[in-house]
Amino acid sequence: MNVLVTGGAGYIGSHTCVELLDKGLGVVVVDNFCNSSKESVKRVERITGKQVKLYGGDIRDKALLDKIFNENKIDWVIHFAGLKAVGESCAKPIEYYDNNLNGTLVLLQAMRENDCKKLVFSSSATVYGAPEILPLTEECRTGGTTNPYGTSKYFQEIMLTDVYKADNEWTVVLLRYFNPVGAHESGLIGEDPKGIPNNLTPYIAKVAIGELKEVGVFGNDYPTPDGTGVRDYIHVVDLAKGHVCAIQKTVNSGVYTYNLGTGIGCSVLDVIHAFEKACGHKIAYSIKPRRAGDIAECYADASKAKRELGWEAKLNIDDMCSSLWNWQTKNPNGYKG
Ligand code: UD1
Repeated sequence: MNVLVTGGAGYIGSHTCVELLDKGLGVVVVDNFCNSSKESVKRVERITGKQVKLYGGDIRDKALLDKIFNENKIDWVIHFAGLKAVGESCAKPIEYYDNNLNGTLVLLQAMRENDCKKLVFSSSATVYGAPEILPLTEECRTGGTTNPYGTSKYFQEIMLTDVYKADNEWTVVLLRYFNPVGAHESGLIGEDPKGIPNNLTPYIAKVAIGELKEVGVFGNDYPTPDGTGVRDYIHVVDLAKGHVCAIQKTVNSGVYTYNLGTGIGCSVLDVIHAFEKACGHKIAYSIKPRRAGDIAECYADASKAKRELGWEAKLNIDDMCSSLWNWQTKNPNGYKG
């Protein structure tokens, strides 16, 4: 069985390629490398001892997608390709909607024309907006997103659901990720953010290694146990395995939605302290004002994925921090060497 992985050179994509190859599945990657590098694909091959068929290019290029479907028998598509920075999406909504929505539309056209109608979509807990109840179940209301990145995920879920409604031969699996962190245990692949990181754990890692001075903790007056924001951090390797389970366990056509999280909420201070354990020294931080658009708390009820896919997160926050530290120390400049 062959899987086309769009955005397969990126952070979650590369980890998913490893898990697919380890399970004996064939992997074809298409990536425009706008936020990733070819080196990650080479490293995936090094980790697994298997080959990836790589196409450089953009999924909005229909001719390229047709070529890929002509040259390979694709059974499933896992669709990661897209822009993902919340702040940047507010400054560049046209680019975000063009990339994320047009990218998905062109992919769907190519899939339909080439009679491949099985898709796993990289969605996000961001589609829930500000949670009304916790933990979040798949039945919770979606929408109310606060930035074009989140809105593009929400729109894509609706687009994919409409595609199934019009043609019941489609199989669509919407995977709503909570906060993916950590790196592969080999230390060969990991998250390689451009410039100063926006997300918490890559930022902490840069402070731990001495590249940045201190972590700014965005608010300590939230209604949470220690006042700092609470999130459901999930190890990227657990997350990657969730995609393999989705492909293996989904046999009937339909639209299936799953939360992929641990179900455990960790505060910003919890994460900083876990990272201190992982790196063996104190991490400087100071309390800053709340970041616009942030919510107090967000964590998953991940029981549906366990029930239906047989998937559950196995790794904890200490594993996440130690694997990230391993990647950070082995690759202080990311994939640039
Ligand atoms: C955001 C996106 C989410 C996306 C995720 C990973 C929204 C609302 N959230 O999640 O969709 O999947 O990024 O790309 O669209 N924090 C600090 N200091 C920092 C950085 C973060 O205190 O320097 C705090 C934040 O206030 C928050 C927590 O750490 O409480 C996690 O923040 P972050 O890693 O940016 O992820 P989210 O905002 O939860």
